[in-house]
Amino acid sequence: MQNLFSCTLGQHVTHVAAVDSIDEIVRMHSDIERSVLWVCDTNTRRFLPDDLHAVVLPSGEVSKNWTSIERIVTVAKERGLARDSKFLAVGGGVVCDMTAFAASIYMRGCAVSLVPTTLLAMVDASLGGKTAIDLLGAKNLVGTFYPAKEVFVCAQALGTLGDAEFRNGLGEVLKHAVLSPDDSLATFLSENRMPILQRDATVLEQMIMASLAVKRHYIERDPTERHGIRDALNLGHTFAHALESVGNLSTWSHGEAVAWGVVRALQAGVAEGITDKAFARRYSRLFGEYGFEIDWKVSDIPAFLAALESDKKKRGSMVRFVLMAGQGQHILRSLDAQLVTELVS
Ligand SMILES: NC(=O)c1ccc[n+]([C@@H]2O[C@H](COP(=O)([O-])OP(=O)(O)OC[C@H]3O[C@@H](n4cnc5c(N)ncnc54)[C@H](O)[C@@H]3O)[C@@H](O)[C@H]2O)c1
Repeated sequence: MQNLFSCTLGQHVTHVAAVDSIDEIVRMHSDIERSVLWVCDTNTRRFLPDDLHAVVLPSGEVSKNWTSIERIVTVAKERGLARDSKFLAVGGGVVCDMTAFAASIYMRGCAVSLVPTTLLAMVDASLGGKTAIDLLGAKNLVGTFYPAKEVFVCAQALGTLGDAEFRNGLGEVLKHAVLSPDDSLATFLSENRMPILQRDATVLEQMIMASLAVKRHYIERDPTERHGIRDALNLGHTFAHALESVGNLSTWSHGEAVAWGVVRALQAGVAEGITDKAFARRYSRLFGEYGFEIDWKVSDIPAFLAALESDKKKRGSMVRFVLMAGQGQHILRSLDAQLVTELVS
């Protein structure tokens, strides 16, 4: 195991380490097995030994509900776990979110460690402390802020991940490159495209750590998203959510929509005189090099604008788009419907 860095979020500190295999984490916990609750899903059960007791959730977003939380805390109670016990998640963003949420309320809070196994969970969901379930038809409606004590990154685990899921995470990595205070992640992505796409574990580990460093740069200064700093991480997401809700991308991953949305935000910045053209061109090209469909045209503009409007109602405020004033410098701006229409059609 290699300790890499810590991330301080208010009172909480998350230690991030890289491991060569998930077996290494299992071995590390073998002495305290009775005070550890392992949680995984039907696809990530394969990473744990057959004889290790684990709560196995159905895979996917369907598990982001009270039923999962109740199952985790019920098993924790049955196994006699106390407040000084540890919940340990092995899975994608869903398993990480469910395990951390359950840990945050079990006996008013016990420790949680995460072993993210999707690229999205490695570069995004595992760091930052947000936990939530979907409820009443709303995504992430109920949740807590509860950072993990440890995050163990095992790039080797990405070998079994499907292509759509891998690209889902890549979209977020490229977004982090735009948000990075310098262009080192962008350069790394340009120079290592083949090994990244071929999933070379050593190169992926470097990419994941650089991507997490960008996320840390934003969340440490605004742990609970109150100062407009952490909002930067929503770059491209307003466009992406509207696109997803009009169904144009039903066969594409969320990451594809985010990639498209980031490019729209760069173009919006150019149109508003905020973003330098060469900067926008460089990053649009990078998304293109990774095979993201960045020129997709929305066919149903009224539905797209209505989706943006409903996003606004959900947040109870103006929709503010994240635009880029330069490398790592974001600005929150509302955009008029005419400009949005021009950008997506
Ligand atoms: N807490 C946060 O800050 C945060 C940030 C971003 C996303 N999220 C949440 O994360 C969730 C999405 O996460 P996700 O994209 O990881 O989805 P996911 O957890 O549903 O995983 C995607 C699929 O990949 C499978 N899988 C996971 N690892 C695998 C592996 N190594 N090999 C083969 N299959 C594997 C899973 O079983 C699942 O079927 C959403 O619910 C989202 O709201 C949370």
